[in-house]
Amino acid sequence: MLFNVAAVRQDFPALSQSVNNHPLVYLDSAASAQKPLQVIERESEFTLHQYAAVHRGIHTLSANATTMMEDVRQKAADFIHASSNEEIIFVKGTTEAINLVANSFGRKYLREGDNIVITEMEHHANIVPWFMLAEEIDFEIRVLPITDDGRLELSQLEQLIDSNTRLLSFTHISNVLGTVNPVKDIIKQARQIAATKNSQLCVLVDGAQGAMHQQIDVQSLDCDFYTFSGHKLYGPTGIGILYGKKALLDEMPPWEGGGAMIRKVSLTKGITFADAPWRFEAGTPNVSAIIGLGAAFDYLNVLGLKEAFAHEAEVMAYASQKLQEIPSLILYGNENREGVLAFNLGHHHAYDVGSFLDQYGIAIRTGHHCALPLMERYNVPAMCRASVGIYTTKEDIDSLFNALQRIKKLLG
Ligand code: ALA
Repeated sequence: MLFNVAAVRQDFPALSQSVNNHPLVYLDSAASAQKPLQVIERESEFTLHQYAAVHRGIHTLSANATTMMEDVRQKAADFIHASSNEEIIFVKGTTEAINLVANSFGRKYLREGDNIVITEMEHHANIVPWFMLAEEIDFEIRVLPITDDGRLELSQLEQLIDSNTRLLSFTHISNVLGTVNPVKDIIKQARQIAATKNSQLCVLVDGAQGAMHQQIDVQSLDCDFYTFSGHKLYGPTGIGILYGKKALLDEMPPWEGGGAMIRKVSLTKGITFADAPWRFEAGTPNVSAIIGLGAAFDYLNVLGLKEAFAHEAEVMAYASQKLQEIPSLILYGNENREGVLAFNLGHHHAYDVGSFLDQYGIAIRTGHHCALPLMERYNVPAMCRASVGIYTTKEDIDSLFNALQRIKKLLG
């Protein structure tokens, strides 16, 4: 199937607006992707005519909404090649997913004296929940460092994982450097080390950036948990997926309590919980967003993930080459990157560069990118980050390149 980026852009009305009297150049999809009409219209159709609370009523609207929601659970399972829809938990997004694992898996399995391994390139969402939990349970958080060019120091896994290591939790693609971590090899290596040291190791992969640039097969990766957010995948905000191996989810206690996650509640005889995954979905879910996410899966499947991601890779290669033509531009990371390019323009603060770019209608993200340990690692207060999506063109990159040249002239 041929990938026609001009046709794809027609699906995204937000892309054809002007910002500050310039055609919008949207290079902030890593923060949040724009939405195609197919998602917007499906969510709106559901809200207009099909809306009802799910798992609650026997009336037709409620029963139909429940069926539609459960269909999306199956679509999510298919999208990441999970073996069953019972391995799919609806969450608000990646952040909530990791908090769920910390508070359910973490509270059940982590004990004083245990340790977990994260990496130096994690988003705060895969750092803060663990530090919060470690305040209560005295386990150690070990950090796998990165090289100067932004690769994981995988040779250090051997010394970091020992018999007390319960979890390895790391990002698929760095949201700052774009580094694509060799997830399958890392998991294989970590499990081999864990086996020799008799550790009961589980692995969580933060796929917030991964699922938007790569086809995911959780069975082939052999991760215990994989998580991603709908809003980066051209779906609605406020919805995401946590995948967990069924046998593991079955052993995990609920995190939040409330309606929909119980089997029986008695004030005198106690409470029994629903099976996984419903046990982890207390309260009324964001059903409109779930339906929208289903439309995003459909949209991407029709478009062809392979073709869409090949297009992105071509734009990324072009962008990396163009940015390196700008003298004094520091490009962080290495060539094995997908989706994002982090840079600084000489000594100029990223906020200044980002504000100038905005004047030309170019949207990038600036700041610490919720990855302060990485800013510390590179000894900078902030970085500029341009990121691409399936609708990004080489012309977008040319606009960025030309504007950066102008800014350089202006700022010196
Ligand atoms: N995690 C998102 C980002 O990297 C918000 O921008």
